[in-house]
Parts: sequence; C-alpha cells; structure tokens
Amino acid sequence: MIELAPSILSADFAHLADAVERATAGGASVVHVDVMDGHFVPNITIGPPVVKSLRRATRLPLDCHLMIENPDQYIADFAEAGADWISVHQEACRHLNRTLHLIKQHECLAGVVINPATPVETLSEVLDIADYVLVMSVNPGFGGQKFIPSTLHKMRKLAEIRAARGYSYRIEVDGGVGMDTVAQVVQAGAEILVAGNAVFGKGDARANAAALLDAARSASLQKV
Ligand code: DX5
Ligand code: ZN
Repeated sequence: MIELAPSILSADFAHLADAVERATAGGASVVHVDVMDGHFVPNITIGPPVVKSLRRATRLPLDCHLMIENPDQYIADFAEAGADWISVHQEACRHLNRTLHLIKQHECLAGVVINPATPVETLSEVLDIADYVLVMSVNPGFGGQKFIPSTLHKMRKLAEIRAARGYSYRIEVDGGVGMDTVAQVVQAGAEILVAGNAVFGKGDARANAAALLDAARSASLQKV
C-alpha cells in the first residue's frame, strides 16, 4: 500500500498542527518528523518536546527520522514523547542490531536508514528484524534538495531481497520526492513516500498531498 508521509521540516513551525491537518485532509497517513543534531548532519531541528505536542495534534503515526549521533541515548525519550515509528541511520549505529531491538522494546516500529553513499548490502544482517528501510534520495540535512536518481536501484534491490528471502519490511524513500520524481520511486518499489517541499513548499498542502498521492497510485497501477 502506498502511503504519503509529509515531512514537517518544510512546514511553518509556528503552525505545525494546521500543516499536519491540511496534509491529512489531502490523504497523508503518516507524519514524518526530521530530527537533526548538528553533528550527524549539518543542521539542527527539533526533539522530543515537539513530538509530544504533535502527538496531541494528530492521530496519525509519527515517523521520527533520527539524524543524530548516539541514537540509543534518545530512543526512550522519543518513544515516551509519542513516536510510533523510529528510524536510525546505519552510518550512526555501531551496534545496529541492538539499536533496532531497543526501538522495538519501546513498542515502536524500527526503521533503518541508508544515506545515498551507503549500499543496501550493509543492511544484509538486519533486514530480518527491520520493520521498514528508508532509502535517502538526498544527502540528509536539509529539505528542498534535488533527488539523486542513482538511489533508485537500492529501492529495487530491497524489493528483490524481500521477495527472495521472504522478509516483510516496508520500503520508504526520503528526499526530493515531488511530482517529477514520484512515479520513478514508486516504480522502483518505494511504498512510504516522504515529501517536505512538495507538500509544504508552496500552494495548498491539502491539494499538494492529494496530487502527489494520485500520481503515486497511478504509477503503482502501471507497475509490472
Ligand atoms: C532530509 C530530510 C527529509 C527532507 C525531505 O534531511 O530527512 O525528510 O525534509 O524534504 P524534501 O521532500 O523537501 O526533499
Ligand atoms: Zn527525513
């Protein structure tokens, strides 16, 4: 099933509840929360207090994408604040198996993320325990960047491995997803589509979300 996860990074932080409500009215079914620490990525965003407020503002699952060093140290805080899904970067985890289990112990879905330069093969030993795999299609740190087409083959590969080994993780894509790229990512196998700029950048978030979802669903019907 295709789902749209608007990234609030591109929304007006003074009106987050409204932004989420508009995107939800357009069909968004997951809220993507970009957490940056100024170390793992060159930008600082938000943390558990904002997640706690969002928890009261929406019934949709909160997908917390942790672009931080030492994620183990903060998983309990995000879970207590109301995160439903928590993803960590392969590049930030020395003990990835332990970290994914820690997320599950807090009753959240556990996701693992790979940067554009990181091969799918680095996840080989954790794909059986991941609930979802997030393929970054830009280098993380900022919204509104250009989609990197060479990441598409990783979505395809993840779909192939899942079928071959009988795993059940879902495939998420994040970065530069918009009307011009959505068909490609869906055809490559992405099912959870993160979009920041394309939803909140300009115009009406409700209409933008609806148009993206429409385009994604027709691309998925055309998939062979
Ligand atoms: C990038 C973030 C993304 C980003 C997506 O570091 O993880 O979630 O906000 O934004 P767009 O859709 O604008 O590329
Ligand atoms: Zn993200």
